[in-house]
Amino acid sequence: MKLAVATRNPGKLREIEPIFRHTPIRLVSLADLGVEPKPEEERLEGEVSFARNALAKAQYFHDRTGLPMMGEDSGIVVDALNGEPGPRSKRYAPPEMQEEYGVDRANNLFLLRRLRDIPDGERSARFYCAVAIVLDDGSRLFSGRVDGVILREPRGEGGFGYDPLFYLPERGVTTAQLSVAEKNEVSHRGRAMRAARDWLLEILADETPGGPNQ
Ligand code: IMP
Repeated sequence: MKLAVATRNPGKLREIEPIFRHTPIRLVSLADLGVEPKPEEERLEGEVSFARNALAKAQYFHDRTGLPMMGEDSGIVVDALNGEPGPRSKRYAPPEMQEEYGVDRANNLFLLRRLRDIPDGERSARFYCAVAIVLDDGSRLFSGRVDGVILREPRGEGGFGYDPLFYLPERGVTTAQLSVAEKNEVSHRGRAMRAARDWLLEILADETPGGPNQ
């Protein structure tokens, strides 16, 4: 089974790929398919909720390609900021900052600035991930989360986005200090993707000759 992934983010693709390795599900990216970026894609992230955005992305690219499609939307939710930046995580820092420092670095600097006066015991946060699968005959949503704390300065070189600031107290490291496999074990994306993968594998088993529905 071919499953297209509705993201243009290489950091996400790097993490998603190993979860589907050694399964009959073959992932293809928008780049593999030659699906050119269009300005209208920006509208897919209406920023209302992770689930709505994931579904909008999956439905849009399913309509464009006709393929089984997986949409993913994720971000960071910070308690001391009343849930900011949430589904706006990618566009959190002002555009001029993003231009000057690059997207990820600007977002990290902006978050640190917003949290400057927040004491150590009040810096709890979580990553959320929503995954939508759109097939010809319907769609399904999955989600995952991981809880942590926002540090005062970046630590680690791995991952992407807010990983260098996201500290996991029970592991004593940030998610930027984990390998892809280690991050997938605990992460919001790993959890949501495994649930989506297992659901697809059940469908495939049902459809296999000799499977439960044959
Ligand atoms: P979107 O889902 O493409 O709208 O973007 C999600 C944004 O949330 C990313 O650009 C990152 O800033 C942040 N984000 C989502 N997942 C992660 C993660 O696993 N680590 C660090 N940052 C993340």
